Amino acid sequence: MRLLVCGGAGFIGSNFVRLRLRGSDDEIVVLDKLTYAGRRENLQDVEADPRFSFVHGAIEDAAAVAAALDGVEAIVNFAAETHVDRSISEPDAFVRTHALGTFVLLEAARERAMRFLQVSTDEVYGSIAEGSFSESSPLDPSSPYSATKAGADLLVSSYHHTYATPTLICRGSNNYGPYQHPEKLIPLMVLNALAGDRLPVYGDGLNVRNWLFVEDFAHAIGHVLEHGTAGETYNAGGPDECPNIAVVRRILELCGRDESLISYVSDRPGHDRRYSLGSEKISALGWSAATPFDAGIERTVRWYRDNAWWWEPIRSGAYRDYYQRQYGLSLGRSAG
Ligand code: NAD
Ligand code: TYD
Repeated sequence: MRLLVCGGAGFIGSNFVRLRLRGSDDEIVVLDKLTYAGRRENLQDVEADPRFSFVHGAIEDAAAVAAALDGVEAIVNFAAETHVDRSISEPDAFVRTHALGTFVLLEAARERAMRFLQVSTDEVYGSIAEGSFSESSPLDPSSPYSATKAGADLLVSSYHHTYATPTLICRGSNNYGPYQHPEKLIPLMVLNALAGDRLPVYGDGLNVRNWLFVEDFAHAIGHVLEHGTAGETYNAGGPDECPNIAVVRRILELCGRDESLISYVSDRPGHDRRYSLGSEKISALGWSAATPFDAGIERTVRWYRDNAWWWEPIRSGAYRDYYQRQYGLSLGRSAG
């Protein structure tokens, strides 16, 4: 199958592209705007593959989308602004990419009656004190990130309902693993621990996330693309839930550091307490997560330890200013 993978230069998209090129006959065209989160480095090991090509462009640009669609049989959309903290300080790009960008892609899929898979998130359901969300739980997003993702999901469903466009939605829980930008909890804590920098924990550190190893989510998306029923939504939840402070302590252990590096900092405004996704529907389709958190976090720490070439340019660039603004802390000796 020839696939258009939008946002394929980001964290999950690049892992998906790598797995599909290794495990299927797909030809893959990546369309990516290369925001601060999108990097050609994420695709460095697949660039030479003759079944891979790259188009630099935005999903909200209809001409760029049309040009990238030559010969394509299905669209998978990862393209998004993804950091909740940035959605609080600068929501504009979230509205543009999630609302307008998803609309442009849906129009292209509708004109061609083409399968369209929207990659989405558990955050559209909001926070849950006990139990887990299912696909029929009401959407109750709380940040500009999750609200704009929820809006995009509703638009996707409307294209199936109104125009019979063969759409699918796959919602994942918090992902972690290789190639994740260090603005997110796990890579931030790993790189700070390796460098001996402070580890900024929001609030009381007891917010709970449902961790899913990125390769498991990439497999889930491929599985839904191939086997999902058009018009349906599938949740893919991780096998383990963990309070943030337990994640941070495990990372410190794996990096050979002690807890004196932890700094409790001001909480995120509107911080969701707990996410939890039930995966019964996608299990019935034949997917389950293969990587327990214990194994995935060890692999992840090892990858960051072994791949300084990948993160050093980020930690010594514009990310330093972002970090200073966000935390009022400086990155220390690692980037000096
Ligand atoms: P990321 O921030 O690492 O990558 C996003 C990619 O999209 C980047 O390559 C960026 O350049 C590109 N992009 C952004 N705006 C674009 C635009 N207008 N046009 C074209 N490209 C654009 O994100 P990620 O963590 O890989 O997330 C990918 C998708 O998975 C998102 O839709 C996100 O909502 C969803 N998701 C993420 C997680 C998670 O824990 N990271 C969990 C569940 C679902
Ligand atoms: P994050 O990786 O931003 O994902 P999300 O907010 O989409 O779940 O954050 C995961 C959890 O870690 C969340 O509860 C916020 C918390 N957190 C911190 O405590 N400190 C940090 O520096 C960051 C980035 C996140």
